[in-house]
Amino acid sequence: METLRIDKETRLLVLTGAGVSAESGIPTFRGGNGLWENHPVEKVASPEGFREDPSLVWRFYSQRRAGAAPCKPNPGHLAMAEWERKLGDRFLLATQNVDGLHRVAGSQRLVELHGNLFTTRCSRCEREPFEDRLAYPEGTVPLCGQCGGKLRPHIVWFGEALDERDLLRVGYFLDRKDTRLVFMAVGTSGAVWPAAGFVDGARELGGETWLVNADPADNAHRFHHFVQGRSGEVLPALVTID
Ligand code: OAD
Repeated sequence: METLRIDKETRLLVLTGAGVSAESGIPTFRGGNGLWENHPVEKVASPEGFREDPSLVWRFYSQRRAGAAPCKPNPGHLAMAEWERKLGDRFLLATQNVDGLHRVAGSQRLVELHGNLFTTRCSRCEREPFEDRLAYPEGTVPLCGQCGGKLRPHIVWFGEALDERDLLRVGYFLDRKDTRLVFMAVGTSGAVWPAAGFVDGARELGGETWLVNADPADNAHRFHHFVQGRSGEVLPALVTID
């Protein structure tokens, strides 16, 4: 297997997707038994779907909360947390995952691009999003204790914009001039933008790019290096840090 050496003049941006949590028992979205095979995405993961049937949306996310709550980080998550401990501010992790397992594994230089499954916010008022691990009984739509509006999962749905601050953090890290850039995408099909375009941004800035994925993802040809395999098996042995 190819290995990636990170020296003191190098910074590492990692982008993760659902594949990273597959070995922890959390289903991915596309292919085989993917979540989107059995759930109409426009009904459970869009603002229109929430307006039409908020209880269906809450049923979906309550099931996902209940499914993800007992799951533990796997060796892939732990390897990335270890890279961060060694690299400090020469490391940034941007994840499309909402399961929170990176944080449980110890990652702190972390941008959760698509929000967090265990966070709820109000769909009407400006109150701060808050931690909420409840799986609501079927048919329930929880209401805001402050304004009475419908609460919603703190997830970026299809048709919604990512948080500008999150994109800026990734942008600043990409644009730094002090070190050589390495970009690595792990366990993502490369189907959802803007994360799917990070590889092009990294290449334009002269970065070296790696993909670690169980299957050749749609955008695999855009990476300099492709390592096929399960992230929990590949990552612990992939990187050496000087
Ligand atoms: P996908 O389900 O689209 O892709 C997961 C990828 O992980 C696939 O290419 C699999 O081959 C690969 N994979 C599966 N198991 C793996 C393993 N053990 N190790 C490495 N790779 C593995 O998931 P994402 O790319 O994360 O958004 O999907 C992106 C976004 O689309 C999600 O964040 C979600 C979804 O709609 C929202 O819900 C907002």
